[in-house]
Amino acid sequence: MSTISFPDGFVWGTATAAHQVEGGNWNCDWWAWEHNPAAGTTEPSGDAIDHYHRYADDIALLASLGFGTYRFSVEWARIEPEDGEFSQAALDHYRRVCAACLDHGITPIVTYHHFTTPRWVAHLGGWEEPDTAARFARYCGRVTSALGDLIGWGCTINEPNIVAIGGYLSGGFPPGRRDAALRRAVNDVFIDAHGRAVEAIKSAMPSGRSFPVGMTLAMSDYQAVDGGEHRRDRIRRNMQDVFLEAARGDDFIGVQTYSRDLIGPEGLVPVPDGAEKTLMGYEFYPEALEGTIRRAWEVTDGTPVLVTENGIATTDDTRRIAYVERALAGVRRCLDDGLDVRGYTCWSAFDNFEWGAGYGPTFGLIAVDRSTQVRTPKPSAHWLGSVAQANSLTVS
Ligand code: GCO
Repeated sequence: MSTISFPDGFVWGTATAAHQVEGGNWNCDWWAWEHNPAAGTTEPSGDAIDHYHRYADDIALLASLGFGTYRFSVEWARIEPEDGEFSQAALDHYRRVCAACLDHGITPIVTYHHFTTPRWVAHLGGWEEPDTAARFARYCGRVTSALGDLIGWGCTINEPNIVAIGGYLSGGFPPGRRDAALRRAVNDVFIDAHGRAVEAIKSAMPSGRSFPVGMTLAMSDYQAVDGGEHRRDRIRRNMQDVFLEAARGDDFIGVQTYSRDLIGPEGLVPVPDGAEKTLMGYEFYPEALEGTIRRAWEVTDGTPVLVTENGIATTDDTRRIAYVERALAGVRRCLDDGLDVRGYTCWSAFDNFEWGAGYGPTFGLIAVDRSTQVRTPKPSAHWLGSVAQANSLTVS
């Protein structure tokens, strides 16, 4: 048995995203996509886990488990339902969510854009339209004026690299385009939008108040096999490096990691025979977190790292604990080498809507029976909550 301890002030929490948990989020591009038979998604999000109405109990539950942060997203389509028309009621709602966190001693980590885009923005050209960057920044400024006194950390855009590849190259996300040049152009619009959003958020912060702002990036641990270095570097460039370079000098970079990808000279190599897989079909490979934190640190020239997502979809909760334990051992090795890692956020607080895959893949620390909306913490929720409280874990 040995004990792994974390630095004072290391933050521990869980995450969700509006569309995946709130329910009834009909005014965004994803809702339209879920109801488009040509999109081929599994099922619509519907009421999700009704977090829009149940947030107070949900946050109280997370606090009782021992977590100190809660990362959630505010929904652009609710806050600005039409171009330039802001909903004070929606902003008030998210003020209440932030306040509920603070009342329970939880620091709110607020994501301004988590995959979903209002329908009106999509109609104006979505993320292939350069003007979307300025529209997004205007919304970020408005949110910050309304909530900035309550926010602990701000994440501008969640995984712009996934929205760009899913929406514009592989076709699994709205708007379902498949065009490599367009995907690279969308990367550029996202990078511009991030820069403008950082500025808008910083200038809208209430006087005397400031919180760290950064983007969060999907990071696979890309590993070259059989001479695949060149191919690996090409893939990694458009998936990660262009965003990491843009994040240099930010207050933090959010690292979100689930597994590794092996890349040979011909491209992606299938998961090795016999390897354990998660419900997403990813290889069970918790060491990916260490690899990607190191990569983020290197390419951003030493920008502080916050792990904003890490976890697995599984029906065997003992494997979730095993996964997080090994991932945390990797975080500790990064800290030992002097990397500035500020905290760990587990995806996800609750079983929820996994986009095109519907409600099948269960990432949650807390199970939800969607017919009754009853929440039941899994053993992993109690375990990780006590790790958070102790700021350390014991491994055998
Ligand atoms: C992600 C997302 C989440 C997913 C999670 C599991 O940022 O990819 O933030 O929305 O649910 O990654 O696939």
